Amino acid sequence: MSERTVALVTGANKGIGYEIAAGLGALGWRVGVGARDERRRETAVAALRADGVDAFGVPLDVTDDASVTAAARLLEERAGGLDVLVNNAGVTGGMPQQPGGADVATVRAAVEVNVIGVVRVTEAMLPLLRRSASPRIVNMSSGVGSLTRQSASAGEGQTGPLSVAYAPSKSMLNAVTVQYARALADTSILVNAACPGFTATDLNGFRGVRTPQQGAAVAVRLATLPDDGPTGGFFEDAGVVPW
Ligand SMILES: NC(=O)c1ccc[n+]([C@@H]2O[C@H](COP(=O)([O-])OP(=O)(O)OC[C@H]3O[C@@H](n4cnc5c(N)ncnc54)[C@H](OP(=O)(O)O)[C@@H]3O)[C@@H](O)[C@H]2O)c1
Repeated sequence: MSERTVALVTGANKGIGYEIAAGLGALGWRVGVGARDERRRETAVAALRADGVDAFGVPLDVTDDASVTAAARLLEERAGGLDVLVNNAGVTGGMPQQPGGADVATVRAAVEVNVIGVVRVTEAMLPLLRRSASPRIVNMSSGVGSLTRQSASAGEGQTGPLSVAYAPSKSMLNAVTVQYARALADTSILVNAACPGFTATDLNGFRGVRTPQQGAAVAVRLATLPDDGPTGGFFEDAGVVPW
């Protein structure tokens, strides 16, 4: 295992993922830039390296078994292992997704990346993480996945537009986070979910009100938790997000 902390950020070629990679790189960590498109990946790696980050490209499509298996092998060969996994890659699944007017293909697309993709990557990386001294898993969720916020009254904490694909996919991701935290409770692996807040990225046509750097901050915090830090939680900048 390398003496320096090694992180993998999925979907790191743009948006919040890019800024998580930049934030972890600024700590002196080696950062694997997980991205499925070669040109976008190499452009991001070059930009991070120009800013002094020890970044390297990790070809990674979270929906593809062979790609994920190859990514784990690359981390082993290139970096000697993995300490911190940030499951950041995500999609809306497409529009429309209003209940009563949705296409099941939209739901399937959201779940495929936001849930199954996270399980696929986590399973592939766990053997590496188990060998780390201070392993962390951060799952990039969303406040719209909170059932408390989904079911709140308008004006009393209700979050997000009606959505039968994206929001429920993040609710399931939250449950997946809790399940891994329970299963790994007797290890040093801390597993938490993060909400970046409404952030201006491609995902929402740049309508978000936070910068990608602000959106990345909570993931950087959860990636750098001390060994006695929380596990199985859901956090935003302001603190705990209700399930
Ligand atoms: N923006 C917000 O307001 C907001 C709020 C709450 C939660 N989030 C969450 O934050 C995370 C980052 O989103 P963002 O806002 O930064 O969106 P973004 O700019 O659209 O970035 C999404 C990233 O995921 C990657 N990705 C999508 N499908 C993938 C796949 N099959 N394999 C590998 N990578 C894939 C994209 O790669 P390509 O460039 O190749 O498509 C891109 O790098 C997501 O999980 C999102 O749900 C965002």
